[in-house]
Amino acid sequence: MSRAEQPIVLGIETSCDETGVGLVRGHTLLADTIASSMDEHARFGGVVPEVASRAHLEAMTPTVESALSKAGLSWKDVDAVAVTAGPGLAGALLVGVAAAKAYAMGLGVPLYGVNHLAAHVAVDQLEHGPLPRPAIALLVSGGHSSLLLVPDVAREVVSLGSTVDDAAGEAFDKVARVLGLPFPGGPHIDRAAREGSETAIGFPRGKVDDGTLDFSFSGLKTAVARYVEANPQVSVPDVAASFQEAVVDVLTRKALQACAEHGVEDLLIGGGVAANSRLRALAAERCAAAGVRLRVPRPGLCTDNGAMVAALGSSLLAAGATPSSLDIPADSSLPITTVALTG
Ligand code: KG4
Ligand code: ZN
Repeated sequence: MSRAEQPIVLGIETSCDETGVGLVRGHTLLADTIASSMDEHARFGGVVPEVASRAHLEAMTPTVESALSKAGLSWKDVDAVAVTAGPGLAGALLVGVAAAKAYAMGLGVPLYGVNHLAAHVAVDQLEHGPLPRPAIALLVSGGHSSLLLVPDVAREVVSLGSTVDDAAGEAFDKVARVLGLPFPGGPHIDRAAREGSETAIGFPRGKVDDGTLDFSFSGLKTAVARYVEANPQVSVPDVAASFQEAVVDVLTRKALQACAEHGVEDLLIGGGVAANSRLRALAAERCAAAGVRLRVPRPGLCTDNGAMVAALGSSLLAAGATPSSLDIPADSSLPITTVALTG
């Protein structure tokens, strides 16, 4: 180990369009560097897998070097390498996994192939310290919307419910398209909604009272598209605010339902949609009323990044988890219950 202190973990994230490299010591963030290929995808209205893979390949070495230099570290300081092994785009994941294997082998340090979704949960420790055990996690991103019971993020994550159709972020992106806003739509809807009224239009709340912890957003997306078609002169801010309210109303209600059903008093929200200002505000309000403690990482740590992967790697190391072998695959559909590919 480089110092008498906690080990330094290098984290690599390439599951989608972001080449993220993070460096942490224990749960202290040392560097978080991101190269995004989003500009290359924007004109297609979505991430093009082949373009993303090529961009990762080009960005990998410079991004790692930039992270090391920002942290004032050199290669010999790195004690372990963690990498997103899934879920995500197969070709994009492969670039990160291959690089991480090479770095781990070259440095003679352990490798941890980790779950992207568990990493979205683990990242909060960099900002708010060790996660309460157990915690409920609401994970809302472009590809996933899940409610999780997290007894220990390094060992066990239990799925309580998930979307039966679109992910929350996907709904934001699709509705943004209907409204003529750029991709990815979440931040644009968030901004537009600030000028609108969330009660202007009563959009449907899918599955809100069905007793399950599952979500559904495709009916809402269709309702918005129909509304805009029927009302071409509509106020974009009003539609954005009303749509956003329907999403965050359901997300927060179901998250608190999960806390109540499982007798858990700590809720964590993670993933790209956790950057949404109205979700953060409504969750704070409703958690306070329900006596639930809320943790949401700052917006830059909610969207994909390398620090989250390093944070989970650090937790695995601290828990004494068996490192991954050098022949682990990139698993595009890695289930959330598999926190890491150990052994
Ligand atoms: O976690 P993430 O960066 O990548 C995935 O793993 O999917 O999440 C990206 C998603 C996109 O759908 C994007 O529109 C959404 O997060 N997003 C937001 C906001 N910022 C990003 N959605 C709503 N409000 C935001 N402020
Ligand atoms: Zn993500």
